[in-house]
Amino acid sequence: MSKPVRAAVFPVAGRGTRFLPATKASPKEMLPIVDKPLIQYAVEEAIAAGVTKLVFVTGASKRAIEDHFDTDPELERALDESGKTELLKTIRGIVPDGVSCCYIRQGVPLGLGHAVLCAQPAVGNEPFFVHLADDLIAGEPGCLNQMAEQFQAHGSSIVAVEEVPHENTSSYGIVEVANSDKGQRMTRIVEKPRPEDAPSNLAVVGRYLLMPEIFDKLKHTGRGAGGEIQLTDAISDLLDDADIYAYPFSGERFDCGSKLGYVQAMVAYGLVHDEIGESLQAYLKDIVSK
Ligand code: UTP
Repeated sequence: MSKPVRAAVFPVAGRGTRFLPATKASPKEMLPIVDKPLIQYAVEEAIAAGVTKLVFVTGASKRAIEDHFDTDPELERALDESGKTELLKTIRGIVPDGVSCCYIRQGVPLGLGHAVLCAQPAVGNEPFFVHLADDLIAGEPGCLNQMAEQFQAHGSSIVAVEEVPHENTSSYGIVEVANSDKGQRMTRIVEKPRPEDAPSNLAVVGRYLLMPEIFDKLKHTGRGAGGEIQLTDAISDLLDDADIYAYPFSGERFDCGSKLGYVQAMVAYGLVHDEIGESLQAYLKDIVSK
């Protein structure tokens, strides 16, 4: 049996330029899907997978994330006094007892790989998850939970993958795999290849389970695609020394870093929401019939 994975890293230091002006002064990860911010879905998925240490790599204009996971005695008192006990429970339970939050500042946004390296002092010499909150994945059990199970079986690093249309390969890290008795073993990974250069259409999405050896690789990773320090390049280096598996998770992914994906997520989550699901369905039927 492999060690349980206890730490999850949430790189939230990107500027979210695709969502400007909404992200000028507030983090992309605080955009809500119905009534919950993206970063809270992320944290809930990690906690459900057994994580007890939440490591946020933050940057400029990200204070709202710290506030969201902090207690707010004034708000709690106001909800208590007005008898709103359900809401009180909702805000009190955001970070359960036994789970700790740690915030590390990425001084300059040099890329996802650099953000992950910034988390090393908090993660230490343990396997850890990396979760990109703008890739929202609906599924039960959650994607990180599925990956934790895979990890128990083979004890190696894992990246979550899904098939994308071939013409979209230049938006993703793309992997080449070989079938093995433990799953799809990665043989190559390339950051954002043009469709004609892509080894497949299997794209890495925002969930990783990484062995701590990745930190040594990241320390030596130079700037890659887009002039950024790419996590993909460090994973490619790690492949020289270790097995890494590509895991086709079950669940539906919404690319909430793009406007269309965000609105699609809002509709999908709205349709199954207790309070507004039925009314939203009626509204959508009405507008498509016009
Ligand atoms: P993206 O490529 O989506 O960049 O980063 P972004 O800044 O968030 O959004 P756009 O493209 O400008 O609209 C992928 C993930 O890596 C994090 C982001 O916060 C996001 O979760 N990231 C990226 C960092 O934490 N630091 C960086 O230097 C770059």
